[in-house]
Amino acid sequence: MSNTQRIAILPGDAIGPEIMAQAVRVFEVLSEHRDLCFELIEAPFGAAAYFEHGHAFPEETKTICDSVDAILKGPVGLSHEDSAKIPVEEQPERGAILPLRARYDTFANFRPITLSRDMAHFSPLKSEIIGDGIDILLIRELVGGLYFGEKQRGINNDGKRFVRESLDYDEELVRRVLVVGFEQARARKGVLHNIHKSNVLMSSVFWNEILDEVHADYAEVEVKHMLVDAAATALCLNPGQFDVMVMENMFGDILSDQGGGILGSLGLMPSACLGPDKAYYEPSHGSAPDIAGQNIANPYSMIGSVAMMLEMSFGMVDESKAVWNAMKSVFEAGYTTADLASVNSETDVVTTDVFGDKVMAAITSELKR
Ligand code: IPM
Ligand code: MN
Repeated sequence: MSNTQRIAILPGDAIGPEIMAQAVRVFEVLSEHRDLCFELIEAPFGAAAYFEHGHAFPEETKTICDSVDAILKGPVGLSHEDSAKIPVEEQPERGAILPLRARYDTFANFRPITLSRDMAHFSPLKSEIIGDGIDILLIRELVGGLYFGEKQRGINNDGKRFVRESLDYDEELVRRVLVVGFEQARARKGVLHNIHKSNVLMSSVFWNEILDEVHADYAEVEVKHMLVDAAATALCLNPGQFDVMVMENMFGDILSDQGGGILGSLGLMPSACLGPDKAYYEPSHGSAPDIAGQNIANPYSMIGSVAMMLEMSFGMVDESKAVWNAMKSVFEAGYTTADLASVNSETDVVTTDVFGDKVMAAITSELKR
């Protein structure tokens, strides 16, 4: 029997448990058909954890996460009204996600924005613009910048309430994520889009200086500079020009959601968050409290996060491909979840569970090939 891979499962809030229930089936299917062994350890995380244990990232969950080979995390968070019932510091974004990222120093966030040719009709963009589909790897710095800088509130000298939050990076934080960007660009098409705002922000001037230094080690990679606002437009008008994009934390938060927009749904956005020793995997989207409990959420991003884990944490390249191919084949057969239905009336809308059933059946036939 092969080594057991131990995985922490953090289902999260709202639609989190529903899409996680489908994602974990992938491990069952794989161990049924391959000589692979996975041990899944579920742990509380997010608002549910706060209400049950008093903390959004309880000690027990930290201990489990410390001990495993990889972490699979569902989306967390509640509606604006329900969030207000939790003290600001324990709200799951601040109380769970950011501490998780900090604990494992998961600085490199891979957010693939991909749509195969056969899924191109899901995009709200015109087919002339989509061409053969979309295949972009957005790399977001995940543990620096405004998210983690010093925060201050108070009364200023004019007696007015004020707020200040700082955007901090040191050269090592910038260098290491740029190295990841260059490595990916070299392995793909040899072009790296550097997204910044150096016409205004000193942090971007600094970022670009470090980029020039790192570029010296990757002379074969062509760097294309683009201001972040212009990149937002370019993603809509000509996404085909991008292959690998690298950017700081806040820019990456915003542009990756735009990525979901050009695909047709945030439900098509899985992600990997890699640190020096540990990685965790999560959908790029939130917990969608408005559709929770209805069995209509799209589990693609959660299942896709498993596919990324298989490849990036466990080196299971074939199994990962089987999962991607399986999901593609379900879409190609005309099935979708509700989020993708309105843009194509010819699709057969299925529930979260049924989409999961179809994906698992398709993985099984991929593995038997
Ligand atoms: C994301 C999310 C998070 C972020 C939130 C939930 C803290 O929007 O992963 O993109 O802003 O990073
Ligand atoms: Mn986001």
